[in-house]
Amino acid sequence: MYAAVVHDFASPPRYEEFPDPAVADGTVLARVEASAVHQIVRSIASGRHYSSAARPPFVPGIDGVVRLPEGQRVYAGGLRPPYGMLAEFAAVRPPGIAVPDGLSSAVAAAIVNPAQSSWLPLTANLVPGATVLVLGATGIAGSLAVQAARLKGAGRVIAAGRNVAGLERCQALGADATAELGEGFADGLRRAAPDGVDLVLDYLWGPAALAAIAALDKLATPSWHETRWLQIGSVASGSIQFDAALVRSRNLRLSGHGVGSGDPAAWPTAITEVLRAAADSRLTIDVETVPLRDIERTWNRPARLVYEP
Ligand SMILES: NC(=O)c1ccc[n+]([C@@H]2O[C@H](COP(=O)([O-])OP(=O)(O)OC[C@H]3O[C@@H](n4cnc5c(N)ncnc54)[C@H](OP(=O)(O)O)[C@@H]3O)[C@@H](O)[C@H]2O)c1
Repeated sequence: MYAAVVHDFASPPRYEEFPDPAVADGTVLARVEASAVHQIVRSIASGRHYSSAARPPFVPGIDGVVRLPEGQRVYAGGLRPPYGMLAEFAAVRPPGIAVPDGLSSAVAAAIVNPAQSSWLPLTANLVPGATVLVLGATGIAGSLAVQAARLKGAGRVIAAGRNVAGLERCQALGADATAELGEGFADGLRRAAPDGVDLVLDYLWGPAALAAIAALDKLATPSWHETRWLQIGSVASGSIQFDAALVRSRNLRLSGHGVGSGDPAAWPTAITEVLRAAADSRLTIDVETVPLRDIERTWNRPARLVYEP
């Protein structure tokens, strides 16, 4: 088959022939319709992701939409390295998760990973009516988190980020208020969250997370008001100096959502719900669809890329 192949962590994958995956242990050979380049896919392809031990040569792509031999169009993932979804074929374990009619394979392939990043934590933690702060709301996953918080019954959704145009888009997607990261962030958050913040969906970490934790102090709510902090992404920085006093001086409950921290049993329901919400346009995402054979020259484009073999 033809596939995108990572030969070294510093270069884009190359489109070339690669051995077909072996069909074993209940898997079937499915034709890939679309697979997206999420942040985690880039991170694995460049040898930086904590969950991956893949070594070149390998095919990247953690998930996608495939056509099973009997014709069903399903979302699938969990391929065994060196195989990934950025290929013509994938050995997947049926039944997969049905993609609703009317939802394109490209959108289905692109939306599950970033949307589950908020859908699952919101399902587990959101008390209806709560105030949710999305830190890093201008990215793909953050803007889906704004939409998901709205759909799942948040009372108030606050979008925080550094990009003013992106924050305006978040308001169009359902955010009640925005807070721009930078000098005036604490004041902006105080205006945006008069009743405090109950849940933070953090896609940034780094200095932005520290600024947000400090800004929680400036809110009108008492320091013992519980704020549940869910660490989901770290585009700003992978580490911060986290003083003990930061934890002791407020009622902050920190946990994470990512590979290894969630119960896989919750995934099929969440993915089915995300795909339904996408089919009904209650969750939306912008994607750029590209033929897989063009992967080497298009890999570094800033859009959320979806490759079609
Ligand atoms: N745990 C999970 O299940 C899960 C799932 C999906 C994604 N993630 C993680 O979530 C993060 C975001 O993913 P994504 O798909 O949304 O990526 P994305 O679409 O590339 O968005 C990242 C956004 O972060 C903003 N940004 C970058 N550096 C920043 C900084 N220093 N300060 C403030 N904002 C900054 C950028 O906004 P502007 O350029 O517009 O300012 C950009 O739009 C990544 O770390 C990813 O790995 C986790």
